[in-house]
Amino acid sequence: MTTRCTFIALVVGRFSWSAWPWMWTNRCWSRGSPQQVLVLESKEPKYPVGSFVLSNSGWTTHAISDGKNLSLMSPDWPGNLSRSLALGAIGMPGLTAYFGLSEICRPKPGETILINAAAGAVGSVAGQIAKLLGCKVVGCAGSNEKVAYLKALGFDEAFNYKTVESLEEALKKASPDGYDCYFDNVGGEFSSVVLEQMKKYGRIAVCGAISLYNDTVTQKGPYSQVPMILKELCMEGFTVTRWENRKEEGLGALLKWVQEGKIKCHEHVTKGFENMPAAFMGMLKGENTGKAIVQM
Ligand SMILES: NC(=O)c1ccc[n+]([C@@H]2O[C@H](COP(=O)([O-])OP(=O)(O)OC[C@H]3O[C@@H](n4cnc5c(N)ncnc54)[C@H](OP(=O)(O)O)[C@@H]3O)[C@@H](O)[C@H]2O)c1
Repeated sequence: MTTRCTFIALVVGRFSWSAWPWMWTNRCWSRGSPQQVLVLESKEPKYPVGSFVLSNSGWTTHAISDGKNLSLMSPDWPGNLSRSLALGAIGMPGLTAYFGLSEICRPKPGETILINAAAGAVGSVAGQIAKLLGCKVVGCAGSNEKVAYLKALGFDEAFNYKTVESLEEALKKASPDGYDCYFDNVGGEFSSVVLEQMKKYGRIAVCGAISLYNDTVTQKGPYSQVPMILKELCMEGFTVTRWENRKEEGLGALLKWVQEGKIKCHEHVTKGFENMPAAFMGMLKGENTGKAIVQM
């Protein structure tokens, strides 16, 4: 049997890579780095020379593709928006925020939601969508500058989890009545403390567990069952690929909100392909505000 492949040559020059946490996990959930690339040569009419595509070909300046797992960027991308937003707020991280919030947290107007890693790519979008839905939004981040950024985005309460004396007290101060929803990007010990602050029937979207990704020995912490039973909580993990069939809906909503100025996006841009490892490690240490991007 003959396998037919149509090869497309791609170049990444002058364009953007994404540095995102899953690339680093000991569990190897992801080995690629989403990129926005320019098609240099093509035998496939769907991807003409000069078009932009999203690809997962890794940390490389050039790649050859058979056209599978590429995603063509709309030629109608608004001229006033940076194309690299397709790796951030109007891309996979934005979709993660959109679907994780609307489908797992399901917040109602007037409810209170907690978001950690809130100044990052996913968290900053999740918080702004929650505001658009009429929620009170509490965000935690790892520096005073990030806390100021969250306030500027419209978060109702924000604090630096690295400098508070007690996370429990900071959570109580930010919302004395507790939390209806928790959009969790961090996991681990942080989440054990949050569980006790949830309101009855609270919903928890387990989006990420960045505090655990580098563990070589699995951490043991307080177990979650008792607060989950007593508060009748609903906790659900997810990956954004679950809503692949609704991607256009999500991207359409995100693009509209960004264009209307209802969602603001910040990119932490590192220049130079050779600086990719430093940008990546910096993101894991919390150096980024908004989406961490590497550009040539
Ligand atoms: N489920 C899905 O489909 C899906 C899709 C995309 C991403 N994710 C997950 O969503 C989370 C956020 O991803 P992102 O791309 O938006 O990254 P990001 O928030 O832009 O960057 C990571 C941030 O995590 C914080 N952080 C790092 N180590 C931490 C620790 N030990 N404890 C607490 N915070 C820590 C840092 O911010 P601070 O300065 O605030 O500490 C850092 O800036 C990650 O866990 C990621 O794996 C899940």
